[in-house]
Amino acid sequence: MKREWVRTKDNSQTLWVPELKQHYHSHHGAVQESRHVFLEAGLAALKTNPSISILEIGLGTGLNALLTYLEGPSESTIYYHGIEKYPLEDTEWAGMDPASFLGEHPNAPEAFKSIHQAKWNELVNISPRFTLFKEQVDLHNFQANVDNFDLIYFDAFSPGAQSDLWTEDVFKKMHYVLKPGGILVTYCVMGAVRRAMAAAGFSVTKIPGPPGKREMVRAFKA
Ligand SMILES: C[S@@+](CC[C@H](N)C(=O)[O-])C[C@H]1O[C@@H](n2cnc3c(N)ncnc32)[C@H](O)[C@@H]1O
Repeated sequence: MKREWVRTKDNSQTLWVPELKQHYHSHHGAVQESRHVFLEAGLAALKTNPSISILEIGLGTGLNALLTYLEGPSESTIYYHGIEKYPLEDTEWAGMDPASFLGEHPNAPEAFKSIHQAKWNELVNISPRFTLFKEQVDLHNFQANVDNFDLIYFDAFSPGAQSDLWTEDVFKKMHYVLKPGGILVTYCVMGAVRRAMAAAGFSVTKIPGPPGKREMVRAFKA
């Protein structure tokens, strides 16, 4: 699959997949979207938890993981489980230059490298407070224990490109692996997606989206 780096409107980088006509993050601003949808609407609610367990659907460029590492609550330990069916090649991730848009974090380039150099399917300590498990697996085959995660970053390509990843069956699996009270956040607000989440047992709310997108979804497991 051909993937090309592009600059988004906040000067951060994301990948463009011509075949799917999909960006990995919003062209209005990759960092802006990641902070808004995943860190502010999801992670911020857990900032007083001593430990936080996060599942990401679609690790991709590692940008959500990187920002969670750099800007997540400093008092919490984080277990970050990112699943990905099509990992980036070394020559691909090397095309992202975090120093060019995350200048406020001098350790961003090193952390980005550690995230990408971490072995797949192994627990890796990126720091004493951040443990990463990158699992190379298709979401359809992903399995985890019940009540396992506090938070899910649901960051698959849009339903227009991959409708099979936004079904009631997939959200039942997400509901199963979330802890009671756990949160799922995603950029997608399509009616059919929200109905699939509700049918899977989620309480679904629409909240303001990042610049360029009116709304996003935050869903809870009761
Ligand atoms: C919107 S991008 C994710 C962007 C990513 N969160 C980031 O920070 O760059 C969607 C990701 O889902 C992955 N993906 C596509 N189909 C998948 C599947 N069936 N199972 C797991 N991951 C899949 C893609 O390879 C891509 O990395």
